[in-house]
Amino acid sequence: MNPSSSDSVSEKHKPQPDVPQVVWHHASVTLEERIARQRHKAGVVWFTGLSGSGKSTVANVVDQMLWKESIRTYLLDGDNVRHGLCATPVILSKDHGESFATRFGLGFGPEDREENIRRVGAAAGLLVGAGLIVLTAFVSPYRNDRQRVRERIEKEYGPETFVEVFVDTPLEICESRDPKGLYKQARAGKIANFTGISDPYEAPEDAEIVLQGGVESPETLARRVIAELKSRHWFH
Ligand code: ADX
Repeated sequence: MNPSSSDSVSEKHKPQPDVPQVVWHHASVTLEERIARQRHKAGVVWFTGLSGSGKSTVANVVDQMLWKESIRTYLLDGDNVRHGLCATPVILSKDHGESFATRFGLGFGPEDREENIRRVGAAAGLLVGAGLIVLTAFVSPYRNDRQRVRERIEKEYGPETFVEVFVDTPLEICESRDPKGLYKQARAGKIANFTGISDPYEAPEDAEIVLQGGVESPETLARRVIAELKSRHWFH
């Protein structure tokens, strides 16, 4: 659990042993069969870094380059996923009402980010099961949350199916870019829990790939990611 995760769960929502019972149903078409029909492996390439670090930009260039090679990919991007699967309370309240939105909508407190990354990890896992190379671009500031996704993916799909890419762009550069004007608002105290300003970012200690986001072009960084995936025999 993240630092502020709370143990005070109402009786109604406390997990009951074995209720409800859900049992895994094994797919008739296996992942091995799916992969045999294509010329690449399946796995997760997890981009992490500060807002404005260039995660989405580089991940999009990687996506485009792999697309041109007929490699089946899909990019899950933080800002987009927070409009649907991990929608904010404001978005949910329109169709589902206040109480539903409060229960299922996600903000940026530590526990909400934990759930955001858990849902994204689960979605990425499903797409890997379909044979895709899944690119994800989330701030994902907590080491534990990223580690949990790695373990889940590797447990299900085997070792080396999760590659972490740390887009290591200094805060000063991210803040000077400020593409959405959020740093400015965070500095003015208008956005709470803003990563790098009023919330921590736990940098990866042993990411497979570290990109100096403030130095080289997105194309150069994307080529580095592709070279690394090739060296891991994800494709040729
Ligand atoms: S994560 O921390 O839970 O992984 P996620 O990647 O989904 O974050 O969303 C981050 C995006 O939401 C940022 O790129 C930024 O545009 C926006 N955002 C809004 N509020 C915050 C905040 N408090 N901290 C970080 N990003 C925020």
